[in-house]
Amino acid sequence: MTRHFLNLTDAGADGIAAMLADALDRKAARAGFPKGRADADAPFAGHTLAMVFEKNSTRTRFSFDMAIRQLGGTSIVSDAGSMQLGRGESVADTARILSGYVDAIMIRTDDHAKIEEMAHYASVPVINGLTDASHPCQIMADLLTIIESGKALPGLKVAWLGDGNNVLHSLVEAASLMKFQIWAACPKGYEADPKVIAAARDRVRGTDAADFITTTESPSAAVEDADIIVTDTWISMGQTDSETKLKALTPYQVDAALMALAKPDAKFLHCLPAHRGEEVTTEVIDGPQSLIWQEAENRLHAQKSVLRWCFGQIG
Ligand code: CP
Ligand code: NVA
Repeated sequence: MTRHFLNLTDAGADGIAAMLADALDRKAARAGFPKGRADADAPFAGHTLAMVFEKNSTRTRFSFDMAIRQLGGTSIVSDAGSMQLGRGESVADTARILSGYVDAIMIRTDDHAKIEEMAHYASVPVINGLTDASHPCQIMADLLTIIESGKALPGLKVAWLGDGNNVLHSLVEAASLMKFQIWAACPKGYEADPKVIAAARDRVRGTDAADFITTTESPSAAVEDADIIVTDTWISMGQTDSETKLKALTPYQVDAALMALAKPDAKFLHCLPAHRGEEVTTEVIDGPQSLIWQEAENRLHAQKSVLRWCFGQIG
């Protein structure tokens, strides 16, 4: 059975735990290596990863490219617009063609249905490098960063402030699987997809984590005594800038006053790219509680373990 990584639920709690443990081990094992040197075991020697981008990317593009190299393999990177995909060749045909050339496919696309179609027709693992609906690779890096900061996931209070977007969806999914509290503070009209919230609540129903998924319009309620504060851009790729949306989101800006309501050792995360002065102030994102650079580097380490999970090497 081919293992695809379209959402965190594909791996489940055990798979995620295995990937996080693997990422921590492998990161430590290559400390001091030049970045382009392969890991000692080079578990992907002879393997090739195709990467297809329908949207812009810096972190996902470079971190996956370095991830496959450090695992001993190689990559082919293409923008969808320069492929026949960009002029109408079907996702299904593209999936079947690429499956004949490469060992795994990472795709960033504007429509989650396309990645599901890709996975249906591909005979090699397909990995979600962001869709309109979710961003599971980002949340793997975020979980790794939280653990590295010395905090254990179960029971932790994680506060999201801002737009109810793809990154929040994967964070909510992670909360329901890894049993931490998620407080999603979003303005009316810009909440997370109710289906994502309902599915997460169903997952924890009847467990100790039954009341761990909270949605609110109150930024201060979300942040109060929180361990981790997370935000993201207010306007995601593919969305048009709207004055109404920006106005609704203004009270959700993460600033020093909001951070002061969280636990004194609370940490700040942002998937980047950031818009200083919009979703977060410069003081917070460049301040001592911010882990954004470690979080960005961890995309590389987390994704190596995602690739290994897809190939059944772990989990
Ligand atoms: N966080 C993230 O996915 O960044 P990119 O859009 O640069 O890949
Ligand atoms: N929510 C953002 C994440 C970018 C990494 C977007 O989809 O544009």
